[in-house]
Amino acid sequence: MLIEEKDKKIFRVETITNQKKLYIQSYGCAMNFSDSEVVASILKEEGYTMTNNSDEANLILINTCSIREKAEQTVRRRIKDFKKKKRTNRNLTIGILGCMAERLKSKFLEEEKLVDLVIGPDAYRDLPKLIQETNEGRKAVNVILSKEETYAGINPVRLNSNGVTAFVSITRGCDNMCSFCVVPFTRGRERSRDPKSILNEIFQLNKMGYKEVTLLGQNVDSYLWFGGGAKKDFLKTNKEKRKKHIDFSILLDMIAIDNKNMRIRFSTSNPQDMKDDVLKIIAKHHNICNYIHLPVQSGSSKILGLMNRGHSREWYLDRINTIHKYIPDCGLSSDFITGFCDESEEDHQLTLSLMENVKYHFSYMFYYSERPNTYAQRKLKDNVPEKVKKRRLQEIINAQQKHSLYRNKMCVGKIFEVLIEGVSKKSNTDFYGRTSQNTVVVFKKLNHQIGDFVNIKITNCTSATLIGETI
Ligand code: SAH
Ligand code: F3S
Repeated sequence: MLIEEKDKKIFRVETITNQKKLYIQSYGCAMNFSDSEVVASILKEEGYTMTNNSDEANLILINTCSIREKAEQTVRRRIKDFKKKKRTNRNLTIGILGCMAERLKSKFLEEEKLVDLVIGPDAYRDLPKLIQETNEGRKAVNVILSKEETYAGINPVRLNSNGVTAFVSITRGCDNMCSFCVVPFTRGRERSRDPKSILNEIFQLNKMGYKEVTLLGQNVDSYLWFGGGAKKDFLKTNKEKRKKHIDFSILLDMIAIDNKNMRIRFSTSNPQDMKDDVLKIIAKHHNICNYIHLPVQSGSSKILGLMNRGHSREWYLDRINTIHKYIPDCGLSSDFITGFCDESEEDHQLTLSLMENVKYHFSYMFYYSERPNTYAQRKLKDNVPEKVKKRRLQEIINAQQKHSLYRNKMCVGKIFEVLIEGVSKKSNTDFYGRTSQNTVVVFKKLNHQIGDFVNIKITNCTSATLIGETI
């Protein structure tokens, strides 16, 4: 009798340790979060279940970001935390995914001895094989970039989902080679995903009750489907395939027509590729949100040239005017970098004057961080002192706050359709949601449900949030 009890206990312990429990931590851009959902889906097929508790995981994957030095430092600190777990749990496998994996390759294994596996953004289908290698006691690396991989056909497992909004990736990689940016090196050549597989993923989300999708890519306006492969090879493909190509405006149109009950957003647009056709399609469909994230980086054409951005200040402002022509109430946001190589006080003032001209609803703002192997690192001098970079950053943050408040004040007294996304963090008697222009609105819950579209009259605001009531 005693022995039987003991056997049962051993069996229980074994089943727990044999359970495949996966913990994923993601850093960086929306694309990384979306990739983690692809990874979770691949590993679900292998019998893994997700856990939000890293203590009970036997596989920890960290999806990393290389965009700025600070992002990499955050990841390194997190790896240290996990390494402590490894000392007490020998069965734990630690894997590094994403841009740092791609940038550092097997060097990562030399630098971080307790990491078992390093895998780049185009190699996730290889994860089961690599995990098997680590189980057999070997370190595993795959950082091969692909011209074709778009993870079409993999239905992502929605992680930390609110059940209302979801990301759908439509392109991967970037060919733009902005001189400051590490992404073309870590995510490879630009390629587009088969529209059939995009439409199918959105159809599934629609069926599951999702109300909004955000189409993702480094450069969505340059979406081009001609049967698969790197965009650079478009002109090399046969005439028939080229004739039947699908660009971003056609894709948007198809998605909007097929999913009239859903909101459609997209990110990120690049000023050099933003065509009037796309603006016309946004204006044509009520369910495509009136919001465009159009990063400018700097207001000085001299700096834009050094950044290899492919657009000038004048071109950018012309795009903004054209957006207003087709979509008068369009919400606008941008990215800025202060203190790029050779940025003078005059160049900085040009950035402030461009902001004053556009008055963005909000922006993401950074000071320049030199990245290894980029053109800027190899050929230009990182010659703006850190103190100056930070002071200029603070000045554009202050300007942005003023403009956000200005934009939000203009909404007071007006009525907006809001999609309810969840319970407000500040008060559980309030819901929060977003307008078509992507501004957050907070209002009393009343009889509404998460996922409802409601009309809200704006009664007050801060620079970050609109406050309103249901009408
Ligand atoms: N097209 C991409 C841009 C990715 S990077 C997208 O989908 O958003 C996001 C932003 O990070 C850039 O627009 C830029 O403002 C900032 N960034 C990129 N490299 C940087 C660097 N080396 N230093 C500081 N900021 C950087
Ligand atoms: Fe980077 Fe420029 Fe592409 S910012 S992601 S190289 S558009």
